Amino acid sequence: MVEFSSNFRNMRSSAIRELMGVASRPETISFAGGMPNNGLFPVEEIDRIIARLPREVKQVGFQYGPTHGYPPLCSALKDFLARKGLPIENHELMMTTGSLQALHLIDRVYLDPGDVVVTENPCFIGGIAAIRAHQGILRSVPLDEEGIDIAGLQEALDQGPPRPKLLYLTPNFHNPAGIVYSRERRQAVLSLLPGRDIVMVEDDAYSELYFEEQDRELVTPIKALGPNPVPICYTGSFSKILGPGFRLGWLLAPTDIMKACELAKQSIDACTPTFSQVIAHEFLVSGQLDRYVAFVRGEYARRSRIMREALREYMPEGVRWNRPRGGFYIWVQLPRGLDSAEVLQKTIAAGVIFVVGKTFDPEARLNDRFRLAFSHTPEEKIADGIRVIAGAIRDCLS
Ligand SMILES: Cc1ncc(COP(=O)(O)O)c(C=O)c1O
Repeated sequence: MVEFSSNFRNMRSSAIRELMGVASRPETISFAGGMPNNGLFPVEEIDRIIARLPREVKQVGFQYGPTHGYPPLCSALKDFLARKGLPIENHELMMTTGSLQALHLIDRVYLDPGDVVVTENPCFIGGIAAIRAHQGILRSVPLDEEGIDIAGLQEALDQGPPRPKLLYLTPNFHNPAGIVYSRERRQAVLSLLPGRDIVMVEDDAYSELYFEEQDRELVTPIKALGPNPVPICYTGSFSKILGPGFRLGWLLAPTDIMKACELAKQSIDACTPTFSQVIAHEFLVSGQLDRYVAFVRGEYARRSRIMREALREYMPEGVRWNRPRGGFYIWVQLPRGLDSAEVLQKTIAAGVIFVVGKTFDPEARLNDRFRLAFSHTPEEKIADGIRVIAGAIRDCLS
């Protein structure tokens, strides 16, 4: 039998993908998938955009396009990113097939087997998987409610050989921890970087989804906070502000890094789906994106409130969770080192699912926490689902 490659043998099926089978049953209450509710998608707006597209533009949408992206979208998106304070000069923007592809491209151009990447703990499962797929080694640093632990980060950056090649962070509405980095923590990260031979990757899939206007400033990317002491690659996505099915993300990176990533992308899929880009362009330049994002901010804020109220009402003593200021997630800490897999076993039987903590632990150990996504579940089912989980935790505690 022909052996699979060592790259492949390094890959693991995500616990989230495995739960999707249960999630697709109509009676299931799923807090597992970090995705929007189907009822929230701007279907009518997109119908109108497609109906009004001139024939020649539709034809462009059916065609292959430049690897770096559909030029009108790249240009409009650059303006959008510049408004966030991101540097456009000496940088290139590339549309990617989801921002997950941007993470893969960076790992592909930098990582040889055994190279080290410093990450947060917990960490986005897609980020972990991308690093593993390239046989990178994860060196993880705990998070607190203000961001990555700075003493831990310094130690992880100083440790070696091998010295880390990449630092991967998600400062805004972290998946799964739900937190947003404070301004001080962002500055502290930046102040640790000068003189290091490292590339930072800033993954910003959620920054548009703040619940309170006062947090608009807070979500300013680390990359935008001042001169970059090391190269910072910034990734973003239309997945949470239009729809993940469009598979549209982006990478903003210094020109030399982008040349390498573009070459890597050429050999993978030649270009990002052009039709998606044509639609996203119209959605963005017509002002509909701004209106839609304002609408979903309110929806997610309300869902998160409903979930927190249910948690307060039903959870037994000793269970802790964060108060999200944006994004999709609440991260729950169980008392007395209780194993979230045991809780999940009981709730699956009752038709309620979530994602266990160790899925997001680069060392695959910590399981006394779990992630609840409030983005997907119909509002009227949130409290019922939380009641079931609370009951299962009580059973495990007794
Ligand atoms: C932190 C983070 N980064 C990146 C992604 C990937 O998004 P996409 O590939 O759909 O753009 C996600 C999706 O859940 C995410 O949570």
